[in-house]
Amino acid sequence: MRFNTKVIHGGQAHEPTTGAVMTPIFQTSTYAQLSPGKHQGYEYSRTANPTRTALENSLASIENGQFGLAFGSGLAAMDAVIKLLGPGDEVISTNDLYGGSYRLFTKIFENYGIKFHFVSMQDIKAIEDKINRNTKLIWVETPTNPMMNIIDIEAVSKVAKKYNVLLAVDNTFATPYLQQPLNLGADIVMHSATKYLGGHSDVVLGALVVKDKDLADRLYFIQNASGAICGPQDSFLVLRGLKTLHVRMQRHCENGRTVAEYLFNHPKIEKVYWPGFENHPNHRVAKEQMKDFGGMISFVAKGGNFEEAIKIVENLKIFTLAESLGGVESLAGHPASMTHASIPKAEREKIGVVDSMIRLSVGIEDIEDLIEDLKQAIG
Ligand SMILES: Cc1ncc(COP(=O)(O)O)c(C=O)c1O
Repeated sequence: MRFNTKVIHGGQAHEPTTGAVMTPIFQTSTYAQLSPGKHQGYEYSRTANPTRTALENSLASIENGQFGLAFGSGLAAMDAVIKLLGPGDEVISTNDLYGGSYRLFTKIFENYGIKFHFVSMQDIKAIEDKINRNTKLIWVETPTNPMMNIIDIEAVSKVAKKYNVLLAVDNTFATPYLQQPLNLGADIVMHSATKYLGGHSDVVLGALVVKDKDLADRLYFIQNASGAICGPQDSFLVLRGLKTLHVRMQRHCENGRTVAEYLFNHPKIEKVYWPGFENHPNHRVAKEQMKDFGGMISFVAKGGNFEEAIKIVENLKIFTLAESLGGVESLAGHPASMTHASIPKAEREKIGVVDSMIRLSVGIEDIEDLIEDLKQAIG
């Protein structure tokens, strides 16, 4: 199956008892057994639930993996990955990453003796320099949030393999429509499915996909033992969202390009961060690694003024000022006070997340309406 067919049919089967074309919401916590241990593959819904299984199979299919795991949130999925490690182990992570991921690493797992190094991964040597015999995991987020830097997954995977270190990629911004990290040598793909995979801003859910059976078994063990699973209703919503991923992403990319070019040519805008520009520092890697450049854009108005940025986001009418991204509707965010507030100001500014930065998640509305909205808000 090709990608567009996989998002609809990959890993799916009609429901055997009724022939229901779509997997129903199996709203049950437990399953009848004929005799102890004699059942139809399901015992208790923390361990497995048929609606979640259908979603997990779909996720594995679209990411070109073998095993999918769904969790109650993107951070719950990340939490399970870090629980593969133990005290004394070290992780090398992208320095410019989602604030909540940074908080999970530094405020939770550092307390359990795991050490995190945050490095700019545009320079592969910077990663190699930090590797020592305790290094167990490299954590990559690309495109990065909100700077839209692009990290060369294949190049990082070569380093990971050389030193026998696991490579996990947060594929939330790109989605498998744009890039498939397992094909580029990653061991684990992670998603905040809350974003593009769900696609309708109506559910919080996380996902992991892997190819290796042993790794999958360790993660399934953690998923069941720690219990941060998603419910059947939420699994259903993401499964339903996935079926239009390809058409939504195509439009997100088209609208994203028009918005990026509009902002780039706007006399009041200082800087636009979008990997589709030929002068973007990582454009070559983006072009090779991704099918298109996505609908996420960050920008800074001239003067670099905090009040000006706040005025723009307050003036927007079709773009909604809100946390999150990846839904059909356009959203605007102010990273310094919203998504990245959990990163200390000095750390944030080192990587370019200044107080005047605005981040857009360009939706799939009529592009003329989006441009008119930006025009009236920026003035
Ligand atoms: C890139 C990225 N990774 C992880 C997360 C965390 O996902 P969730 O909010 O579903 O826990 C987010 C949420 O914004 C994100 O943007």
